Amino acid sequence: MIKGGVPLRGEVRISGAKNAALPLMAAALLTDEPCVIRNVPDLSDVKFMGQILQSLGATVKFNGGEVRIHAHKIKSVGDYELIRRMRGSICIAGPLLGRLHRARVSLPGGCIIGARPINLHLKGFAALGAAISIEGGYVNALAKKLAGAEVFLGGRAGSTVLGTANVMMAAALADGITTIDSAACEPEVVDLAHFLNAMGAKVSGAGSPTITITGVKKLHGAEHDVIPDRIEAATYAIAAAATNGEVTLRGVRADHLHAVLDKLREAGVKVERQGSNLTVRRNGKLKPVDITTLPYSGFPTDVQAQMMVLMALTPGISIITERIFEARFMHVSELARLGADIEIEGPSAIVKGGRPLSGAPVMASDLRASAALVIAGLAARGRTEVKRIYHLDRGYENIDGKLRRLGARIERVEET
Ligand code: EPU
Repeated sequence: MIKGGVPLRGEVRISGAKNAALPLMAAALLTDEPCVIRNVPDLSDVKFMGQILQSLGATVKFNGGEVRIHAHKIKSVGDYELIRRMRGSICIAGPLLGRLHRARVSLPGGCIIGARPINLHLKGFAALGAAISIEGGYVNALAKKLAGAEVFLGGRAGSTVLGTANVMMAAALADGITTIDSAACEPEVVDLAHFLNAMGAKVSGAGSPTITITGVKKLHGAEHDVIPDRIEAATYAIAAAATNGEVTLRGVRADHLHAVLDKLREAGVKVERQGSNLTVRRNGKLKPVDITTLPYSGFPTDVQAQMMVLMALTPGISIITERIFEARFMHVSELARLGADIEIEGPSAIVKGGRPLSGAPVMASDLRASAALVIAGLAARGRTEVKRIYHLDRGYENIDGKLRRLGARIERVEET
C-alpha cells in the first residue's frame, strides 16, 4: 500500500545482484569442496536456488549475506516441481553436465515476459559432445566425455546470458579448449568467470563477445563477493527522479550502468558520482527520450518498465522499444489505471507523457513490472495498492524497508 507524492530523500545501500548470485550458486556444484559466496541478496529466488541445490544433495547454509555451499556428493536429476517454478534454475544444467557428464532438468517453459526458449543452451551442450533429448518435460543431457569446441551462441535477440553461463560452466571441466562466440557480455557473466577462475578454471575474455575456456580436470572450493545489483540501482535512481527527490545510491558499480545513466542524463536527471556512490536528482524539467532495449552494454530490458514510468511523468512523447523479450509490456495496462497514456505498436510503446498520475489498485505481473508499478505509485497522487508483491520479493531485497528509509509511505499489508 503506497501513499504517493512524497519525494524520496536519503541514502540506500544497493544489494548484491540476483542475476549474478543465481549462476554463482549453481557453479558451486562444479566442485566437491565447500564454496562461500558473500554479498548474496536476501531474496526468494536466492532461497529457492538454495532449495534446488539441496534437492541435488548439496548442503546449503545461509548466514546473513553469506551462503556456504558444499556439493560433496550430488545427483544429476533436479526436482521437477522445484526447477519448473523458477526460470533461472536452468543454470544448474551446465555444472551438472560438467561434473557428472549427465543432467536431467525440467524444461523451464515460458513465462509472462515471453517464450524463453533454451535452444541455445542445448546447442552449446551438444557442441561439447552431449546427446540431448526431451522426455516427459525433462531435458536430458548425457555425454560419455565432454570435449572443448567452438560454439556460436548468437540468437534472435543477440546472445543469451544464462546460456553463456551454462556453457562456460560445462566447458570448465571439458577436455580441451572451448570458444564461445557471440557470448553475452553482461557483468553477471564476468562475475561468474571470476568465480570459476577462483575455483581453478581457466576462463578468459568474459565481458567480450568471445570467451575462451580451457578445460581443467578438477575445480576446488573458493570464496567470492557478488557484484552490486545494477538493476536494483537503476530502479532506485529512477524512483528518485520520478518522485522529484534526491537519493544517494551506495555501493554501486557505475561502470555497469552507463546505458541507464546516459539515458537518465538525457532525460534531465543529474547523476553525480563519488567513488562507489551515485547521487541522483532532477536537473530542471524532465525531457522525453527514446529507448531501445539491447543486450549489454545497451539499455537493459530489466529497466524498461521502470523507465517507462519516468517517461509517463515527462511531458512529450517518447518511444520505448523492447528488443529482448516479445511480451514485456504487461505493465502498460496497469499503468493506464493510474492515468498513464501509453499505446503499444508492435515492439514499441508510445508514451504520451506528462499527465498527472493518480493512485489506483494494480496487479503485479512480473518482477520488473512490479517495480515499475511501485515507482508509479510513489510518484502518483493518492493511494496505490499493488497486489501480488511476491514478484517483488523475488528480486528486490527489503524493498519496502529501503523505500521507507527514503521517506516513502509504503506498507506491506497481508491480504485476508
Ligand atoms: N533466447 C533464445 N534461446 C535461448 C536462450 C535465450 O532464443 O536458448 C532468447 C530469449 O528468448 C530472449 C533473449 O534470447 O529473447 C535473451 O534471453 P537470455 O537467455 O539472455 O535471458 P536469460 O539468461 O534467461 C537473464 C536474466 C533476466 C534478463 C535477461 C536479459 C537471470 C536469472 N535472468 O535471463 O532477468 O531479463 O537475462 O538480460 O539472469 C529479471 O531479473 O527480471 C530477468 C528477467
